[in-house]
Amino acid sequence: MSRKVKRPPPETNLANIFERARKACLALPPDLTWPEPDPDKNLIIEDVSIGEDREDEERVSHMLIESDNIHALGLLRETHRQSVDLIYIDPPYNTGRLDLGYRDRWEPADWIRFMFPRLVLARDLLAPHGAIMISIDDNEVHRLKLLMDAIFGGPNRVAGMIWQCRTFMRSLISEDHEHVLVYSRHRADIVPYWSRKDEPTWFGKRVRREYVNPDDDARGPWRDCKCKPPSGKGKKKGGDDYDYSINTGTGELRRGAVTGDGWIHRIDWEYVLGTMVSLIEEGRLVWYKKKNGALDYRVKRFAAEEPEISCLGSVMTEAQMMTARGKDDLLAIGVDPGDFKHAKPVKLIQHLIQVAAPDATILDFFAGTGTTGHAVMALNAADGGARKAILVTSGENDICRRLTWPRLMSARNATGGTGDLIMARVEDKK
Ligand SMILES: C[S@@+](CC[C@H](N)C(=O)[O-])C[C@H]1O[C@@H](n2cnc3c(N)ncnc32)[C@H](O)[C@@H]1O
Repeated sequence: MSRKVKRPPPETNLANIFERARKACLALPPDLTWPEPDPDKNLIIEDVSIGEDREDEERVSHMLIESDNIHALGLLRETHRQSVDLIYIDPPYNTGRLDLGYRDRWEPADWIRFMFPRLVLARDLLAPHGAIMISIDDNEVHRLKLLMDAIFGGPNRVAGMIWQCRTFMRSLISEDHEHVLVYSRHRADIVPYWSRKDEPTWFGKRVRREYVNPDDDARGPWRDCKCKPPSGKGKKKGGDDYDYSINTGTGELRRGAVTGDGWIHRIDWEYVLGTMVSLIEEGRLVWYKKKNGALDYRVKRFAAEEPEISCLGSVMTEAQMMTARGKDDLLAIGVDPGDFKHAKPVKLIQHLIQVAAPDATILDFFAGTGTTGHAVMALNAADGGARKAILVTSGENDICRRLTWPRLMSARNATGGTGDLIMARVEDKK
């Protein structure tokens, strides 16, 4: 089913986006200069690679780029413009902490100055149906939301998700959650993409609905609900058309008040008389007794009529997704994270990225220890998918060579060794 959706043309003028962002986030410095990707930078594919046939385009290839992401994103804009299906990032939250194994302290304006151009470049990489998911905590969530509204457009916001990252209690209030902000390139375009129903592995949580058929209805299993019938007829307006009586035994309908056995009179039925007649004729009403003994009705909705909806819930509380698991995930494949605190748990990222297609290209340009790459491999192993991961992380604390690359190699082994891996770095052209 295709629906025509009216939407404003996407904003492509950088100056306008910048102006909007500046107005939205008053802290955005007026002297922000746009860091154009450096033409003197080059993407160098290193000799380190694993897999059987790197030249075979059909094979799944994951790429790890060691670079300041501003340059990597600039280069990816040449090679992957509008072709990334999903971006997940976990940028420095600006907690002010000095013990995380990477820089996490900025003046708020400098944090925005840092994030702004990277998010604009990221937007350009997204396919029309693409989306971006960003982990963040309360330090910067308010500024990030304004920034995202300015860059992606408020109507393209998909959801604000809550991730329960820990359970322990601190004094006063234990803040046990962080956020995942989800924005789309064009909200209307991701709807059919994310709602594909014939692929059982696309979504984490199917909206579970129980259908039964206690009366052997020839139309098959049904559930009763307060909702309108599928035709959407019968909007409530008030007036004479809503003032009638129904005989719950015979299904007979009469205008105005009728008293007697089985008759119920209301002046404000949910459906106009004509609609109610059809509902009764179609055998869609189910009468039941409320707690106070009064009779009420619900409407049958058949499984066959329901659009199959699957979606992720916006609150994530599973124990396997909590922060403490991140370190265990690394240790489990023989990689010691050392001073790198708070690698994200694989299950959390796996849960999030399953919204994308089984052959999606998934980018993480604050890759840290490479959890997103690990999650992509684990998901591919679980469902036979062919997702590709592109990871970018800086050489900060030598993390890329010390942790990310070894982790990806171990994760590849641990998940059955599918998908070639290549490592690249960005350096000045000679
Ligand atoms: C919060 S950590 C991400 C952790 C990651 N999700 C994981 O599970 O391991 C942020 C990472 O981004 C890296 N980073 C910070 N600034 C960067 C930049 N400009 N370009 C690339 N990576 C950067 C940091 O070194 C750090 O490893």
